[in-house]
This record gives sequence, C-alpha cells and structure tokens, in this order.
Amino acid sequence: MLRTAAEVRGWRARTGRVGFVPTMGALHEGHEALMRRAAAESDVAAASIFVNPTQFGPQEDFRSYPRAEARDVVLCERAGVAMVFAPSALEMYPDGDATRVQPGPIALPLEGAARPGHFTGVCTVLTKLFAIVRPDAAYFGQKDFQQLRVVQTMNRDLRLGVRIVGCPTVRDPDGLALSSRNGHLTADQRRSALALSRGLFAGRDLWTAGERDPAKLRLAVERIAAGPGVALEYVSVADPYTLEELGGPQGKVLISLAAHVGKTRLIDNVLLGIEVGEVE
Ligand code: PAF
Repeated sequence: MLRTAAEVRGWRARTGRVGFVPTMGALHEGHEALMRRAAAESDVAAASIFVNPTQFGPQEDFRSYPRAEARDVVLCERAGVAMVFAPSALEMYPDGDATRVQPGPIALPLEGAARPGHFTGVCTVLTKLFAIVRPDAAYFGQKDFQQLRVVQTMNRDLRLGVRIVGCPTVRDPDGLALSSRNGHLTADQRRSALALSRGLFAGRDLWTAGERDPAKLRLAVERIAAGPGVALEYVSVADPYTLEELGGPQGKVLISLAAHVGKTRLIDNVLLGIEVGEVE
C-alpha cells in the first residue's frame, strides 16, 4: 500500500497500462467487480482508498462514513489489484490548497441540486488522483450514474485522456443496490430500503410493457418506492446523456431516485433502452 503521490509516481514509472478504481473504501462486491474488470482489461489494476472530505456537505456523513482499511486492502488483493493508494487528507489537500475543478451543467440537477458542491469535490479529487496515478482506464459503477456522466464530461473537457468505463450496478439477490452506506441500515431499515429497487423495477416493467409517458413511469416508481420507513427525496425520469427531465416519450431513459431510510441517504437507478457501457 502506498501513501504518497511521490511513491505512486515511482511505481507508475515502472508499470504498463493501468486500470484504476478510485474508491472511498468500505469496499463491497460492487467495487470488487470494478477491480476484477480493471485487472482483466489492463496490465495492472490499481485502486485508491480515500474518503474525500471536499465532496461532503457540512451536514453530511463525512465523519460517520464507514472506514475499514485493513479489510479493504485484503479485498483489493483478492480482486487482483497490484497497487493500493491510500493517502492522508494532507497528502491530497496540502496546506494552502485552494484549487477546485468546477464541473458544468451536467452536475447541476439530481445529486448536484441535492448536494451543492458535491461534484466539485468529486472532480477535484479525481483530477488529483488521475494526475498522480495516470491511469489508462478508470472504472465507475452505474449506481452513481450522474457521477459517471460528470466524470466522462470532465475527462472530455479537460482532455485528460483516460478511458472512462461505466459498469453495471451490483445488487444483493433481493435487489438492493450494493453501497458502502448499506452497512448503516438496521435489519428493519434494510427491509424498507428494498422499496427503492422494487419501485425502479416496477418502472422498468412498465417500460417493457410499452409505457413511454415519463409522468406515468415516475408515478409507478413513486408509488412503490415511497414505502413505509422511506423518505423519498426525488424520482427523476431523465435523458441519460444530459440528465434533463423528459417532457415526452424518448427511446433512452434514466430513472433515478434518492431517499432517506432512517439517517442513511441512498440512491439507485435503472437505465431503459440503453446499457451503461454504451453511454459515452
Ligand atoms: O464514488 C466514489 O466512491 C467517490 O465519489 C470517488 C469517485 C472515489 C471520488 O471520491
């Protein structure tokens, strides 16, 4: 495990094509799938573990975000990762640090509206990580679909030259999307949280049956997702490229939602008419 940018630069100088999985730790099978793919598609897989303070709002869960570094390193090794970069906050944000990477309109709706400044923090830390690790490809999960679109756009706009790879969401057998935050849920809350994926799957079923009206799709998801114990924040039926809400029928659709279950904020989504790997 490497702790400093200088150590990673030394490692990088001796390495071929790198597939990179940036993470905030508390790793699960979703991360493991990204790492296995990075290892399969590159000479060497690398991962970072860094709970990035700048992407959390003042009222958010930075302090209580789950941390399990020793366990995480074992998972990385099992998934074929050859280099884990786990820097300190001071290594990533040295004294006097004031530079931020501000994303464009793709970061404004949905999570950007609910979490002001979140994507500026994500873009800033990923720009630093990409500059340190210099990956050929970087792997992101569909569950954070807007993050994937923001990163794709940043990579294009800043000419970073990294191949950004979107990978399908990994779910528990009962449908719950894997998330580091699921560990905060009690057994009852976990049962309540199942309403989120059930709602999204109901929307997908309606779509498969031929329904294209965005309002009807949204309503079908809301009816189920807003179950007992769930405080639904938003359900969005949007264009998967621009993330703008749909005003009428369209062939490619992102249905996404955010909700609080107890104190835990969860997000999830389904893509209709398009696979995550096709979105560029
Ligand atoms: O998805 C995450 O875990 C984080 O947002 C990321 C990409 C590692 C940046 O801190």
